[in-house]
Amino acid sequence: MKRLKDKVALITGGAAGIGLETARLFLSEGARVTLVDLHDDDLSDAARDLGSPDDLLTIAADVSSVEDCKRYVAQTLETFGRIDVFFNNAGIEGKVAPLADQKIEDFDRVMAVNVRGAFLGLQHVLPVMTGQKCGSVINMSSIAGLKGSPNVAPYITSKHAVVGLTRAAAIEVARHNVRVNSVHPSPVNTRMMRSLEEGFNPGHGDEMKQQLAETIPLGRYGESLDIANLVLFLASDDSAFITGAQYPVDGGMAAG
Ligand code: NAI
Repeated sequence: MKRLKDKVALITGGAAGIGLETARLFLSEGARVTLVDLHDDDLSDAARDLGSPDDLLTIAADVSSVEDCKRYVAQTLETFGRIDVFFNNAGIEGKVAPLADQKIEDFDRVMAVNVRGAFLGLQHVLPVMTGQKCGSVINMSSIAGLKGSPNVAPYITSKHAVVGLTRAAAIEVARHNVRVNSVHPSPVNTRMMRSLEEGFNPGHGDEMKQQLAETIPLGRYGESLDIANLVLFLASDDSAFITGAQYPVDGGMAAG
């Protein structure tokens, strides 16, 4: 039995990394999927990578824009008629620097994508789900939403905000049978982590990766599929009694 049979899933930041791998898993579990990302060419590459299935819609949009947000929700409804699963995943890492040296423009951009974008997504998707009397939202936070660490204060701030957003939304919509949870990965092998490794130790990203992997109790980075498997559980009816919760998927990092 396919776990997302007859469900429609909307994934932001879906053209790469964790979002793309989650789309692949969702499609294999019977979902119809909308991928939202910034650029048409990246979305075309992603669609090809997924085998250009009929059950896939791609939409170029910036999650921090009110108009774009309205559009990606409206186009998903026009095409598929409903939204059962919302993986509120798009995010950026910001710059690596001590808090005192961070530029306020960079702070604002990180908050615009990671917090405003997640908030806007909820604003437009939750009314659809409460109207249906069912739905599951998975907000992408991070281990950086559970713990502090130096030199990435804007990112840490934004990912902690996602926890507040998750709890606030979960309580508001629970009586409508809509669930809202957050996931908290430790470093995962994607473009974003590659950029952070270089930011932490310019020209020595590989050494940085090795050092970071050693701080993870299971001794390795996560793979996108490790995260997608948790997102699938939270998207499916297997998690029907779970809402407002924060799920580490971090090789034990939050435990230490
Ligand atoms: P990635 O960089 O591979 O993919 C992120 C995708 O989001 C890209 O395709 C990018 O174009 C898209 N995106 C960025 N800004 C956008 C915007 N304004 N509107 C629409 N799309 C936008 O990164 P990855 O690793 O797959 O990250 C996905 C999420 O997972 C992010 O929220 C990130 O903070 C979070 N995360 C990642 C971890 C990691 O180690 N890679 C660890 C913990 C959380």
